[in-house]
Amino acid sequence: MPRVRVHQHVNPLAPFYRFTPQPLQIERVFADPNLPLHLDIGSARGRFLLKMAMVEPNQNFLGVEIREPLVEEANRIKEEENLTNLHYEFCNATYSLHKLLEPLSSDVLQTVTIQFPDPWYKKKHAKRRMVKDNLVETVVEHLRMTGKVFIQTDVDFLAEEMFGLFRENALLREIEVAENLFPIKTEREAAVEEKGLPIYRAMFIK
Ligand SMILES: C[S@@+](CC[C@H](N)C(=O)[O-])C[C@H]1O[C@@H](n2cnc3c(N)ncnc32)[C@H](O)[C@@H]1O
Repeated sequence: MPRVRVHQHVNPLAPFYRFTPQPLQIERVFADPNLPLHLDIGSARGRFLLKMAMVEPNQNFLGVEIREPLVEEANRIKEEENLTNLHYEFCNATYSLHKLLEPLSSDVLQTVTIQFPDPWYKKKHAKRRMVKDNLVETVVEHLRMTGKVFIQTDVDFLAEEMFGLFRENALLREIEVAENLFPIKTEREAAVEEKGLPIYRAMFIK
């Protein structure tokens, strides 16, 4: 498949990315809006969800990504593949995920994945990191009871920072997870595994 050329990183604090998306039109984007929903935050080219949607036709999959050309490309590919349980949205998850998810009923969001988000290594760039208090709050608010959040990264300090924010939430309970339980690996996960580097994972249940 051809790959669109995009900036490797964008600054989520730039005015262009501080926009408010339209609330998700769940009835329009999925053939059966009542299926359990899996949300992948920072879905990049969307290949993880593309394959998940193929192997799990009884779930809906929503990818959220800040780089718009990747969202357009991913939606074009899902249309070519005739997948009616998959959709991607252009959204700055740190600032406006709550607006996008506003229309979801309380029993639909079953799974949330946050996989290898940009670490923004330098201290002065820490504000650009994706997982913040408000993102955790939005995720937990919309997650249905027994819903799960799965997080993985290869960056140790970022793992501690993100896991710490989810551990602080009283509505979640951490469950031990030694490996990725999904049948598909993300592009980044495959690359890290190939280099034999460690991956830090955590899972939380509501
Ligand atoms: C390192 S990539 C990992 C992509 C994929 N999850 C994987 O594991 O292969 C992180 C992705 O998160 C996206 N991202 C970063 N900040 C974001 C934000 N505030 N909202 C939505 N997406 C964001 C980036 O554009 C990038 O595509």
